[in-house]
Amino acid sequence: MTAPEVSTGNGLTGDKVLIYHLRDVVKTREAEGTAFRLRVPSLQIALGEKIALIGESGCGKSTLLDMLSMTLKPSETGSFRFRSEKGAEPVDISGLWRKRQLNRLGDLRRLRIGYVMQTGGLLPYLTVRENINLSRRLLDMPNDGLVDELAGDLGIRRHLDKLPHLLSVGERQRVAIGRALAHRPSIVIADEPTASLDPIAAERIMSLFIELVDELHITVILASHAWRHINRLGLRHLEHHTRREEDGSMTETVVTG
Ligand SMILES: Nc1ncnc2c1ncn2[C@@H]1O[C@H](COP(=O)(O)OP(=O)(O)OP(=O)(O)O)[C@@H](O)[C@H]1O
Ligand SMILES: [Mg+2]
Repeated sequence: MTAPEVSTGNGLTGDKVLIYHLRDVVKTREAEGTAFRLRVPSLQIALGEKIALIGESGCGKSTLLDMLSMTLKPSETGSFRFRSEKGAEPVDISGLWRKRQLNRLGDLRRLRIGYVMQTGGLLPYLTVRENINLSRRLLDMPNDGLVDELAGDLGIRRHLDKLPHLLSVGERQRVAIGRALAHRPSIVIADEPTASLDPIAAERIMSLFIELVDELHITVILASHAWRHINRLGLRHLEHHTRREEDGSMTETVVTG
C-alpha cells in the first residue's frame, strides 16, 4: 500500500481524509543515565488505512502508540492534529495537552479510540459479555446487537457468560479485540495483540481482526516486534530507523510515514 500524498495543509489529501497529522513530534524518556528519544518529523494516517509498525523490542512502538492514543504527552510538538471522524474539523491535540485539557483528551480517547493490549487487559470480575460491552457502557450506548454480532464473528459466543479466567489466552485476546471494536471507534490501536499466542493462532486471530476492522470501516494501527505474516494482511508499514550511541547512553528512533 502506498503512503498518502503530501498534505495540502488542511488535513485533506486528494480524496483522502487524514485522521492523524503529526509534524515534528518528539518524546524523550530518561531513566538511570540512559535516554530514549522518539522523533516523528512527519506522519499522516488517512481514514480507513491499515498501518503496521514492526520493529525490535525497545525501538519505541508503544511510545508512539501511547502518544497516538493520547495517553502519553509528547515532549515537543510542531503540530499534532486528530480528526475524530469524516466531516469533523481536526482537533489540535498539542493544544489540549498544553492547556492541560485532560478531560477533553479522555473524552476523545473513550469515544473515538479502541485499544487492544498485548495481554488483553480484561477485567477479571466482569463476564466476557460485560468486558466486550464495557466501552459502550462507559458511553451510555444502548444495545444495538453489535456485542453479540462481534462475539459470533470472533467465535466466542458460547463464552459470553463466563469470567475471563475460564478462557484460553487466545480466546481472551478475541474478547479484547471485541471490546476495542464494540463502541465503533474511528480508530483501533493494537499493541502486540497476538504476542502471547502460538504463530498459527496469532495468524488466525490477526486475519479475523483485520477482516472486522475492514467491515466496520475502522482505521487500524498495529505494532509488533515480529510478524511474519503481516505482508499478507495488506498493511502499510511505517518507516523507522533506530540509532544508538556507542556508550549506550542514548537511543533515538525516527518514524515517518
Ligand atoms: N516509563 C518510562 N520511563 C523511561 N523510559 C521508558 C519508559 N517506558 C519505556 N521507556 C524506554 O523507552 C524505550 C522505548 O520503549 P517502548 O516501550 O516504546 O518500546 P517497544 O518498541 O514498545 O518495545 P517492546 O517491543 O519490547 O514492547 C525503551 O528503551 C524503554 O526503556
Ligand atoms: Mg511495546
